[in-house]
Amino acid sequence: MPPRRPPITVVILAAGLGKRMKSDRPKVLAPLCGRPMISWVLDAAAALAPTRILLVVGHGKELVAEALTAQGQSKGVTLVHQKEQLGTGHALQVCRKELGKDPGRVVVLYGDMPLLGTQTLQDLVALQRRAAEGGAAILTACPDNARGFGRVLRGPNARVERIVEEKDCTPAQKAIEEVNTGVYVFDGKALVDALPRLTNDNAQKEYYLTDIVALMAASELPVVAHETEALEEIIGVNNLSHLSEARWALQQRILEGHLLNGVGIEDPATTTIDHGVQIGPGTRILPCTVIRSGVKIGAHCEVGPFTQLRTGTVLEDGAEIGNFTECKNARIGKHTKAKHLAYLGDVTIGERANVGAGTIFANYDGKHKHPTHVGDGAFLGSGTVVVAPNTIGARATTGAGAVVTRAAGVGAGETWVGVPARRLAQKKAGAKSARAAQSKSRPSRRGRKEKTRA
Ligand code: UD1
Ligand code: CA
Repeated sequence: MPPRRPPITVVILAAGLGKRMKSDRPKVLAPLCGRPMISWVLDAAAALAPTRILLVVGHGKELVAEALTAQGQSKGVTLVHQKEQLGTGHALQVCRKELGKDPGRVVVLYGDMPLLGTQTLQDLVALQRRAAEGGAAILTACPDNARGFGRVLRGPNARVERIVEEKDCTPAQKAIEEVNTGVYVFDGKALVDALPRLTNDNAQKEYYLTDIVALMAASELPVVAHETEALEEIIGVNNLSHLSEARWALQQRILEGHLLNGVGIEDPATTTIDHGVQIGPGTRILPCTVIRSGVKIGAHCEVGPFTQLRTGTVLEDGAEIGNFTECKNARIGKHTKAKHLAYLGDVTIGERANVGAGTIFANYDGKHKHPTHVGDGAFLGSGTVVVAPNTIGARATTGAGAVVTRAAGVGAGETWVGVPARRLAQKKAGAKSARAAQSKSRPSRRGRKEKTRA
């Protein structure tokens, strides 16, 4: 039997105020492709299958806890409260009780590194096991712009000696290209032994986690560094400019995933697709389209250009949602089309229905949102307004500009026209269809002017 590997504890530091973000909200809750920044880091941590995750929270800790629950990520995560943010080293010191005397292997991550990849993390754990048993492995990089990163000081034989924060660097140290990315794998016992020895004797008067490296190196414990080439993974989000950089990189990853699944994305540069969107193969996404988290799109649909699909939207196979059309909490049946200038809010529409240009489902009465149901094969003429709650039966038709008042309830196969919309008398069976009848009828003045329908 192979020797049992020590358990892994992941500690994620997320207590910082994030002053450079110029926002009152905790930095780690900054939205990133449809979920909070911390969710991305938790995913990376979970991929290590740790026995537990300690999340150090401080500023806005209730908000962080709420977000974790909302994202379904609170399982296996213990929140540790750092009342005062006295530095990254102090953040680990407050975990003393949870860590105990010999916590096995301890992986430390910062909550502001949303792009960190699973493989990179696994490789670093393997490196620590192989080359730094009893000590530490740290992830370093040589980015084009070393902005704000701590620099890695190496001694004879390129041995890592310490990390110097940018604010504490001499000009010569500042010129060092290798930086500390902020990912560490420690021997847990060596870590808890070193933690009480940290001091705050530095430019920021903070207890730096990075000084652990120097303490271990000085004690002749092994410290190894792995330089990653995956520069995009090391982005540490300190301000909104970094956040937009991270968003762009994550967005590319998400789009790439859909493209490889057979989803045609005509212009990735103007397409926003959040995390957690399902899209079937053969679907085409046209430029300037925004698709929010949780949306489900079937196969062979067409979305865009200039379309917004908001939370709760489901497009069944073959549905087409076109330009300047917004869907929110809308279920659109197979092969149903809403191609131009429409608002589809809180609505379920059956199969092969047609929603004419300019149709609005008026779902909000100023206090509450209300639903509308539209049956299979219904045909809503251009500029129809359906005031919710309401139902439009299967194969029903509305004339251009019809305003179907609240709860009017258009029956199956009926034709309603005018403002407010009224039902047209039904022709006898075998006579002209309701739709043909409508074009002959004399609806409201507004309806009369309209010669064509979408
Ligand atoms: C840190 C590193 C730096 C490294 C860089 C990588 C230190 C001292 N410096 O600097 O060497 O190059 O990350 O991006 O560690 N936090 C707490 N409690 C605190 C302070 C911070 O939980 O008291 C958390 C923050 O929420 C954040 C993380 O720790 O998620 C890092 O803190 P931050 O202030 O962003 O450190 P950097 O200045 O970026
Ligand atoms: Ca940072």
